Amino acid sequence: MKVRIAPSILNADFARLADQVAIVEHAGADFLHVDVMDGHFVPNITIGVPVVRALKRATALPLDVHLMISDPDRYLEAFVDAGAAMLTVHVEVLPHLQRTLARIRELGAKAGAAINPGTPIAVLSEVASDLDHVLVMSVNPGFGGQHFIPRSLEKVSALRTWLAASGSPAAIEVDGGVDLGNAHALVSAGASILVAGTAIFGAPDPAAATVALRRAADAR
Ligand code: DX5
Ligand code: ZN
Repeated sequence: MKVRIAPSILNADFARLADQVAIVEHAGADFLHVDVMDGHFVPNITIGVPVVRALKRATALPLDVHLMISDPDRYLEAFVDAGAAMLTVHVEVLPHLQRTLARIRELGAKAGAAINPGTPIAVLSEVASDLDHVLVMSVNPGFGGQHFIPRSLEKVSALRTWLAASGSPAAIEVDGGVDLGNAHALVSAGASILVAGTAIFGAPDPAAATVALRRAADAR
């Protein structure tokens, strides 16, 4: 499976967002990962619908919108309308997960479920056919620049095995502490979308960092 690179703008210079996005777009990024935080589900507050709408005008990259918010159902339509091509919701806040995922697809976006490091993959067992992707958090969500939790690697493997057994073509996305040192192992374990914030926008040359991450991911 082709590995796709999704730079996370959380670590970009927000005062120069369009320029920063253009840099990774020209360097061959596949998606733009947009972290929406509400100060409630996670301790940080970031950006919302207006910024997603502005990004949509600024880039041709599909917007991969990661909702770290307590009540995602209220905002699904607004984010898809603003330009989200992929919408990812956290299972930890969703008592009606199947309904939410079905609604995202109905709105015309790819539907994804995110699971925190402390959440077992078994919570997804009844929704395999409703998923376009699963986002495995490899740090506890809320901030960029945290250390990758090594256990996440086994989680990705187990998820890969379970998705295959369920006949699901859902992609596995990994988010948090992804860098040149773990990209290859993650892909070998079954990840096909790598989110990277600090490893790309924290690097002196984000374009070179995007290319290097793809090389590391594809290395044999
Ligand atoms: C963390 C966010 C991530 C974050 C990744 O809560 O969901 O997308 O931007 O940043 P790094 O790659 O620095 O861990
Ligand atoms: Zn994210």
